[in-house]
Amino acid sequence: MEIGSPLSPSATRVMLLGSGELGKEVIIALQRLGVEVIAVDRYANAPGHQVAHRAHVIDMTDGDALMAIVKKERPHLIVPEIEALNTQTLAEIEQAGLAQVIPTVRAVQLTMNREGIRRLAAETLCLPTSPYAFARSQQELQDAIDGGIGYPCFIKPTMSSSGKGQSRITNASEVAGAWEYAASGGRVNQGVVIVEGQIDFDYEITLLTIRSKNAAGEVVTSFCEPIGHLQKRGDYVESWQPQAMTKNALVEAQRIAKAVTDDLGGLGLFGVELFVNGDQVWFSEVSPRPHDTGMVTMATQRFNEFELHARAILGLPVNAEMRVPGASAVIYGGVDSKNLSFEGIEKALEVPESDIRLFGKPESFERRRMGVALATGKDVDEARSRATLASSLVKTKAN
Ligand SMILES: Nc1ncnc2c1ncn2[C@@H]1O[C@H](COP(=O)(O)OP(=O)(O)O)[C@@H](O)[C@H]1O
Ligand SMILES: [Mg+2]
Repeated sequence: MEIGSPLSPSATRVMLLGSGELGKEVIIALQRLGVEVIAVDRYANAPGHQVAHRAHVIDMTDGDALMAIVKKERPHLIVPEIEALNTQTLAEIEQAGLAQVIPTVRAVQLTMNREGIRRLAAETLCLPTSPYAFARSQQELQDAIDGGIGYPCFIKPTMSSSGKGQSRITNASEVAGAWEYAASGGRVNQGVVIVEGQIDFDYEITLLTIRSKNAAGEVVTSFCEPIGHLQKRGDYVESWQPQAMTKNALVEAQRIAKAVTDDLGGLGLFGVELFVNGDQVWFSEVSPRPHDTGMVTMATQRFNEFELHARAILGLPVNAEMRVPGASAVIYGGVDSKNLSFEGIEKALEVPESDIRLFGKPESFERRRMGVALATGKDVDEARSRATLASSLVKTKAN
């Protein structure tokens, strides 16, 4: 393992595909290790563009554009931050030995499609999941619900993230609307939806799971303390660490996370989403990259999830230790504006043990995540009330 000097022939070059707030933090972590970083996104001045050595704007679902930028920049590692990528081209890039894709092309392909990852988890690895079926028409959807999925159930496009096109329905009158919404809300491969029976969980967690090399060069798995979170309209609004769990539930959560990440392979940090009820745990989905709910680790851990990802992908050892309980609370745009200001930051930072991150997104929407408030405390309750208070004190203003 060797890291060269940035902007020299020996440079270790990493390309981020997607450079939002999560990519931005990965880039900062890589910059601190002397890595040369190239940030790619579909719009100009994305958060990660602002902290990278070089920035590019391309349509990452366009195979030719993706290949051209990789040939131009010759990164050693390609780090996907988003799901909407041309994975066929990523496979060609890897086969041609042009660059290594994190964690693997197969993992990126499987996790970008709910059908791929769900069949792997439930049918190949035999892990517990919600009951599910795939439907290609409204009739197939209705048949699947009547045939055993039942109500309430969740209907989601197979290719989507952040709650897009997703609905929860409780009776037959809502099926047509849910079908329309999901079939039109997906990215590509429109028209295939997954329907999942509702799991009545006590709480849901993200188990950040890291595959890294130890000093002897062996791949080892480490887990962060579980992160609890609250989702509204398919988007996370609050997260905290640690989420209290029974011993049995924690062991089961780690077993599931290890089984999935062992199969996906490669190096890096994964966000494994799980539902928990008592000692029972269900696999929900997994991101082969840092997770939005894991932003809380910027306050709680010795190395946050972005630093852990950076170290793991470079083949360096990691330390996933939590130092102090903490919480995060999202700061939304509140208004649509291309010229947004934030006020009340001084009040927010007067909340004990608080901190904030403003992502620097060039355009704000009412429901766009523009920043996050972080806080620590003697326990999760104290940290949560501090983080939500700090977040509420930040006011946005369209100029
Ligand atoms: N089968 C289910 N049972 C209960 N809650 C669910 C189910 N599926 C989704 N949810 C809720 O919706 C949220 C978003 O669903 P998820 O599948 O993670 O979509 P996304 O990829 O958009 O994050 C979950 O975190 C959970 O709160
Ligand atoms: Mg999710």
